[in-house]
Amino acid sequence: MLVEKNVALQPFNTFHIVAKAHALVRIASEQDLRAVLADPALAALPKFVLGGGSNIVLTGDVKPLVLKVEIPGRRLVQETARHFILEAGAGENWHDFVAWTLAQGYPGLENMAMIPGTVGASPVQNVGAYGVELQDRFESLDAMDLQSGEIFTLNAAQCAFGYRDSVFKHASSAVGHQALGLKDRALILRVRFALPKVWKPVLGYADLEKKMAEQDCSAPTAQQIFDWVCAIRRAKLPDPALIGNAGSFFKNPTVSTEQCADIIARDPKVVHYRLADGSVKLAAGWLIDSCGWRGKSVGQAGVYEKQALVLVNRGAGSNGLGATGGEVMTLAKAIQTSVYERFGLLLEPEPVVL
Ligand code: EPU
Repeated sequence: MLVEKNVALQPFNTFHIVAKAHALVRIASEQDLRAVLADPALAALPKFVLGGGSNIVLTGDVKPLVLKVEIPGRRLVQETARHFILEAGAGENWHDFVAWTLAQGYPGLENMAMIPGTVGASPVQNVGAYGVELQDRFESLDAMDLQSGEIFTLNAAQCAFGYRDSVFKHASSAVGHQALGLKDRALILRVRFALPKVWKPVLGYADLEKKMAEQDCSAPTAQQIFDWVCAIRRAKLPDPALIGNAGSFFKNPTVSTEQCADIIARDPKVVHYRLADGSVKLAAGWLIDSCGWRGKSVGQAGVYEKQALVLVNRGAGSNGLGATGGEVMTLAKAIQTSVYERFGLLLEPEPVVL
């Protein structure tokens, strides 16, 4: 096992923020993780699990031991009457896995094409796009308890999925890994997906409806949806390889019907979606945009011109340094304040701030 010291993290976070890990170990197998836990000095350290680094903001050097997950593998593990069960190692690139499942003839993940990050990170924030969330296709996952070294399996209910949320985002003081939260307490090793044998397209999302109308296509294939989602994302969202970012920076807030009526009375154009439980989801991008933030910057941190929900690093690449995590958070706080003052809503950041 190699413990790398003072490792530059800029290539390992999609915001391309400059920071270092005091110590980093690459985890390519269960055995690598066992070796870490068997070493008394390493076992005692606080730990941070790093996947594709696509949902983090680094505000300084990382002091906990960084476990960089690189576990490979993708395979069909089982067929049930209604599903193909596919498994992927936590270190697999999410988009490559989605493309691979389609190429193998197992559709179902196409709406979630091009989400940056790794398979292992996908359940942590229950990734989702264009009408499909990870929880809709999730079967189970295996993880290792970072204290005991025990491997355990969680089903969807045990993962407690919510909107961009799961048991892995919550801290816990409780004993027993399924009691409350698993934040920093477990490392996801592999994830299994249940893809339906009878595939039905998930349409209905405005951007997809537009593509169907443009191409005069009422019954798209999974590959067509995949291609459309890729095109929509390329047009709207910055490519992290070119412009540092962590996807949507805030969650879309949910309000009661009454609160929404209040906001509509003041701002009739507010973009909102009614949910099945009677509450209403507001488009945070629209709220931020209507406060005039699109294209604005604090230092090298900016609000993306084509989608105000995405904060970007304007500097990386040109001067090699770019935005600091502090600049990103100052910008985020200024946005929160102005949205709060105008709409009375506190936007909740989506990425993990370190
Ligand atoms: N809008 C504006 N101005 C903006 C941005 C958006 O008016 O600057 C409006 C749009 O016109 C649209 C509405 O807000 O009417 C919603 O925008 P969009 O369809 O782009 O989706 P979103 O709600 O901003 C969510 C996810 C994305 C996901 C898309 C598509 C969250 C926090 N974000 O964005 O996920 O790709 O829907 O399903 O739920 C991510 O989590 O990192 C992410 C990119």
